[in-house]
Amino acid sequence: MSETIAVIPGDGIGREVVPAAVRVLDALDLGLSFVMGEAGDDTLSDTGEALPDRTVELVEDSDATLFGAAGETAADVILPLRAAVDSFANVRPARAYPGVDAVKPETDLVFIRENTEGVYSGIESEIAPGITTLTRVVTDDASRRIARFGFDYAVERDDPVTVAHKANVMRATDGQFVESVADVAEKRGAEYETALMDALAMQLIMHPEEYGVVVCPNLAGDMLSDLAAGLVGGLGLLPSANIGAENALFEPVHGSAPDIAGEGIANPTATVLSTAMMLEHLGYDDAGAQVRTAVEKTLEQGPHTPDLGGSASTEDVASAIIERL
Ligand code: NAI
Ligand code: MG
Repeated sequence: MSETIAVIPGDGIGREVVPAAVRVLDALDLGLSFVMGEAGDDTLSDTGEALPDRTVELVEDSDATLFGAAGETAADVILPLRAAVDSFANVRPARAYPGVDAVKPETDLVFIRENTEGVYSGIESEIAPGITTLTRVVTDDASRRIARFGFDYAVERDDPVTVAHKANVMRATDGQFVESVADVAEKRGAEYETALMDALAMQLIMHPEEYGVVVCPNLAGDMLSDLAAGLVGGLGLLPSANIGAENALFEPVHGSAPDIAGEGIANPTATVLSTAMMLEHLGYDDAGAQVRTAVEKTLEQGPHTPDLGGSASTEDVASAIIERL
């Protein structure tokens, strides 16, 4: 069986790291077919739309999507793309690797971020000049869905579960979140702890080794996972998956990095690790593990791009990963 992968490089370094990651996928010879799609700032200037309908259709019709990054149009591109795959869970692993200078080398976390509601509900308005409001939406269904996904994920990794919230202040919304999670846990006999998200931010910096899977409302997951990127050596290392019931989209956590775009020195690791998550999601567990091992060896022995203190190019790193497959 040959799966079709939608490939959307986007803007800036997306156009450098995505082709590098596709080279790695190609080298595995799995018979995947790749279909290129357009989105982002340049697509907006060329076509008048940052995310043309045909790109959305391509994503809907593919078995999985690999996305790079968009620039200024990021919100107009990535939010609808995540919606196109009906993604309810955003999975963001943050792990320190031997060979990379990390603030906390013992970090090995996975953030399971609710991907559809919370303060990113999009219900915002200016109700009078200078007075703006936002509606924070939390539903029982979405909270249960992310809890089930988080508990399953933790069983697979044999990790403790921490549920981030701020129900002491946001009593109705995070109160609902905590209550839904508690009910799911009780029904399956799952163990977990809850943590107030602000205190958790401090704990993650001081003692990341005490945590495993962190289930988060949308905004908390966005912020805590970037915080964890800082613990492990930077954004060039963090992959992510947007999981829906029948489709999924994989992307590095980083953006288009205009400060280094065009120089060919972006770190492809985050995108290559995103493809490993994609392979595992599609059932190619051995190939996914092969990619991870090759990435780990390359991080340990080099070459490294400048963000990790080296002088290698994106292509040098991709070639080194391919040699080690
Ligand atoms: P960014 O992630 O693009 O860059 C932040 C810093 O990290 C920069 O110094 C950059 O050079 C560095 N960096 C990021 N990825 C790297 C990699 N693979 N290798 C080496 N260094 C890397 O975030 P920033 O600067 O806040 O945003 C830049 C643009 O990207 C903005 O237009 C923003 O809207 C967009 N963006 C898009 C996202 C997406 O498409 N999912 C996510 C975040 C930002
Ligand atoms: Mg973010």
